[in-house]
Amino acid sequence: MSNQFDVIIIGGGPGGYIAAIRAAQLGKKVACIDEWKNAKGGAAPGGTCTNVGCIPSKALLQSSEHYEHAAHHFADHGITVGDLKMDVSKMIARKDNVVKQNNDGILYLFKKNKVSFFHGRGSFVKAVEGGYEIAVAGEKAETLVGKHIIVATGSNARALPGTPFDEKQILSNDGALAIGDVPKKLGVIGSGVIGLEMGSVWRRLGAEVTVLEAMPTFLAAVDEQVAKEAQKVFTKQGLNLQLGVKIGEIKAAKKGVTVAYTDAKGAEQKLECDKLIISIGRVPNTIGLNTEAVGLQLDERGAIVVNDDCQTNLPNVWAVGDVVRGPMLAHKAEEEGVAVAERIAGQHGHVNFNTIPWVIYTSPEIAWVGKTEQALKAEGRAYKAGSFPFLANGRARALGDTTGFVKFLADAATDEILGVHIIGPMASELISEAVVAMEFKASAEDIARICHAHPSLSEATKEAALAVDKRTLNF
Ligand code: FAD
Ligand code: NAI
Repeated sequence: MSNQFDVIIIGGGPGGYIAAIRAAQLGKKVACIDEWKNAKGGAAPGGTCTNVGCIPSKALLQSSEHYEHAAHHFADHGITVGDLKMDVSKMIARKDNVVKQNNDGILYLFKKNKVSFFHGRGSFVKAVEGGYEIAVAGEKAETLVGKHIIVATGSNARALPGTPFDEKQILSNDGALAIGDVPKKLGVIGSGVIGLEMGSVWRRLGAEVTVLEAMPTFLAAVDEQVAKEAQKVFTKQGLNLQLGVKIGEIKAAKKGVTVAYTDAKGAEQKLECDKLIISIGRVPNTIGLNTEAVGLQLDERGAIVVNDDCQTNLPNVWAVGDVVRGPMLAHKAEEEGVAVAERIAGQHGHVNFNTIPWVIYTSPEIAWVGKTEQALKAEGRAYKAGSFPFLANGRARALGDTTGFVKFLADAATDEILGVHIIGPMASELISEAVVAMEFKASAEDIARICHAHPSLSEATKEAALAVDKRTLNF
């Protein structure tokens, strides 16, 4: 029957749409349901990542970085720029176009792979013989039946209690990516990944940015040495980072927003700003999924409970991505989507949680994989460390970007790489070598003995691996 599928996926973000493509590649009859609407009400698959996350944030980071280079760094290269101007509406329109290209790309991939796409909200109706009945509420109502269901409904921004997002002055990531004019004063609550990326965009364009963070330490999950360097660099760039604060009352008026807070010394403070971004983490999203109808189990955070294989408490119901435990990253969602599609097809898909890379796309970029030095210390594991500064790398000097370093952590006895931490230019690209090395259980010496192109930033990776054995060549 036309409404019967081997696999129905609810949610078309990176977890869902990739699972759909992989399941179709493996010969399954697949449906993917996604409710995201573009400004004209049309289908906009790709989820948070494509519409209000990874892709648009990187588009704005790129535009604002070009602006900053033109304003402050071109002169070093002998380039004079006359009357430098920023057309924010054009920057936002370009970002919207980049998003649209990605939405359209996913619709094309669905067609190419014969995935049936349904635009609307999917919800559980009931368990039926051989599967589950799923309702789609879109332009027209439909009912589908799937033998396997993959839930990939993602996450939503967490609001502060009593302070709902209005997306005009009190902004989640949605509003932060669509500010129409450079605010004179921008407040940010939470110095995590979104706070730093979005704070960087608007600081580069001229906003005075103050970031209020509850934790007393900056980037507590990041390797301490990297976090310290990052704090120093971002402060020098002009981000006003206030750590260890306690947020009090937030008042929005026509003229702007006032945030009352207690600073790290216990003094009462007030931050006046034109706009306020609240980026204090995200919550799993199961709104409207009607999980109760089938008894799908959620945990106390509202995440769908899954085992290591992404199986839920219900037979043939799976869940992947931000709606389950683990890091809220697009590539983690994708890997889980692939692994589940392969398991449904009788294969042995697997996600290695120890080698998921993290990247913060600030300037300098921050990227890491594996254990931090503080985690190894806490475990009592004997390790060796080696690092190499970009200051001593020829390509970095030629680029004019010598901030930061590459740091290796390796097992003291076996030399196996346990973690790699990078702060510096193109860290997002450089980290891939470390991921490959760790997947192959390489030693630091393996990287040290591999020929790296000269001049390239990747030579800093090789040198940091050499540094583990205290034999750098260029430092
Ligand atoms: P989502 O991408 O959230 O997709 C879920 C989809 O399901 C949505 O389209 C939603 O509309 C749909 N949906 C929900 N419920 C239903 C329903 N009942 N019926 C039909 N459809 C439904 N991660 C990175 O790895 N790198 C980055 O650079 C990065 N940058 C980010 C920047 C920002 C500002 C934000 C907010 C996030 C960023 N992330 C980044 C995180 C990344 O976006 C998420 O980890 C990723 O999108 C999770 O994918 P997902 O498929 O689980 O869910
Ligand atoms: P986050 O978890 O990265 O950071 C939240 C920060 O807010 C933390 O430092 C936390 O201590 C602080 N905080 C929490 N409650 C607070 C309070 N009441 N007052 C002040 N500070 C408070 O979350 P964020 O930045 O919202 O991003 C959500 C997720 O989106 C990230 O964890 C990440 O998984 C994903 N993301 C990934 C990106 C990337 O990979 N480059 C980019 C942006 C988001």
